[in-house]
Amino acid sequence: MTPTPDAGPLPPARSLYWDDGTVVAVDQRALPHEVRQLRLRTADDVIDAVKSLAVRGAPAIGLAGGLGVALSAVAHTSGDAGTDEAAVRADAERLIAARPTAVNLEWGVRRAVAQLGKGPEAVVDEAVGMLREDAALNAALAERACALVESLTPGRPLRLLTHCNTGHLATGAVGTALGAVIGLAAEGRVESVLVDETRPLLQGSRLTAWELEQAGIPYRLCVDSAAAAAMARGMVDCVLVGADRIAANGDTANKIGTYGLAVAAARHGIPLVVVAPESTWDGQLADGAGIVVEERSAEEVTGFAGTPCAPAGAGAFNPAFDVTPAELITAIVTEQRVFRPSRADRPLPEPSGDHSASSGRIAGLIEEFPDHPAPGVLFRDLSALYAEPGVLAALADRLAERYFGEYDRVLAVESRGFVLGAALAARTATPLTLARKPGKLPGEVLSAAYALEYGDDRLELRRDAFRPGERVLCVDDVLATGGTLGAAARLVEECGAKVAGMAVVADLALGGGERLSPYRVEALWEVPA
Ligand code: MRU
Repeated sequence: MTPTPDAGPLPPARSLYWDDGTVVAVDQRALPHEVRQLRLRTADDVIDAVKSLAVRGAPAIGLAGGLGVALSAVAHTSGDAGTDEAAVRADAERLIAARPTAVNLEWGVRRAVAQLGKGPEAVVDEAVGMLREDAALNAALAERACALVESLTPGRPLRLLTHCNTGHLATGAVGTALGAVIGLAAEGRVESVLVDETRPLLQGSRLTAWELEQAGIPYRLCVDSAAAAAMARGMVDCVLVGADRIAANGDTANKIGTYGLAVAAARHGIPLVVVAPESTWDGQLADGAGIVVEERSAEEVTGFAGTPCAPAGAGAFNPAFDVTPAELITAIVTEQRVFRPSRADRPLPEPSGDHSASSGRIAGLIEEFPDHPAPGVLFRDLSALYAEPGVLAALADRLAERYFGEYDRVLAVESRGFVLGAALAARTATPLTLARKPGKLPGEVLSAAYALEYGDDRLELRRDAFRPGERVLCVDDVLATGGTLGAAARLVEECGAKVAGMAVVADLALGGGERLSPYRVEALWEVPA
């Protein structure tokens, strides 16, 4: 791992890249005093850089892991003998072991290793491709997170608090949580950012402050233990953090101190939002109990900037991360979704008992009527489901949750979509618009034809139904061929609004989802014919 001769000021969003068969990385240990780059020539150089935190931050070490495999694949390939795959796989395992907590490291390494059979060029392409993907991924994350924070904290300019470093140093592009801060600042929504210094290695004061300084965003540092006091004084509107590993239930490992922030934020009713790519989820772990937390040396705590600040030989408890329980997290934003752990598992009410079709599960209340309303059509009736006390509201809540923070208005489709759409709008205090059958709406209307399982129909909307750019959630009871919701989507766009997605109780698995692609469709149940 050698400092590059071409060290110097960096383009702000490129802290890691592949250059002529080597990996160039910002040496994060030298910041903020010195902007220095490292040239990493071997997998061992990458391992050293990750272990010593020259390269750090969960997404960044994932990308570095992939690049480390690429270096190894090139090094272990010779003209005659081809690639020594066993040697590359051994390097890959050592790369994964460099730091145990961030799951992204293993994710990046395994993605690169999966290309090994196709030769070293394919491994390099994959590793460099991951770097490229990170730009679009960070942009999607930031957009989603900004929209969520806007909806959680309407009104005044925001006072944000962040922990550790989640910016371009920690990723391959603009960042995760800090990417959202930068996005909100670009929209003029940020008054100031409170930056936890992040003991003991000061990723907040050395790295995040440096990035905010470069971006021209107003910030102040605070010691980690001042964060709760700042919340108590009403100085914080929202806490934004990254993540190193997220278990299936939403328990989240992140830099030590995050758990304390979450406890304090919950105490003061302040939203705490985790912003992290999908690659940070570890679906193998049911909850956070199985997350391995890296413990680092006592010297990081017993000294400060190389000067001892504790009695010689003092021991220290120095976990690099902690695990925040899901129920303390307002939302986890990824490039694909917003997940609210505290709401995800709320059970639906049980059927009240004696309904013949129930078979003990609420979905069993969906009744089937063959040859209705035309021969060959299997009609699904949700009446019995809606008749169960509390069920309609619970169904609406569940669907609303899947699009939390992602829509401004509900569009309910005549006629059976009116039931669920109205409930969803009412439960979430969202404006409701009705898409109607022909001839019902007054004023200037737009009209769209569509085919049903049984015949053709039309939907109509008033031309002035939406504000320009409004995000509209289209709601119906069941998804069959996708014709009805497809027509609704066309009308939404013709009116100058955006389709946030489609929500239905049941997907009849008749190819409607594919036909509606690329719109997102959420169904509570798939009820195949
Ligand atoms: O020890 P570090 O500096 O690698 O820890 C980093 C963090 O905890 C970050 O908050 C996390 O990796 C998210 S980075 C986008």
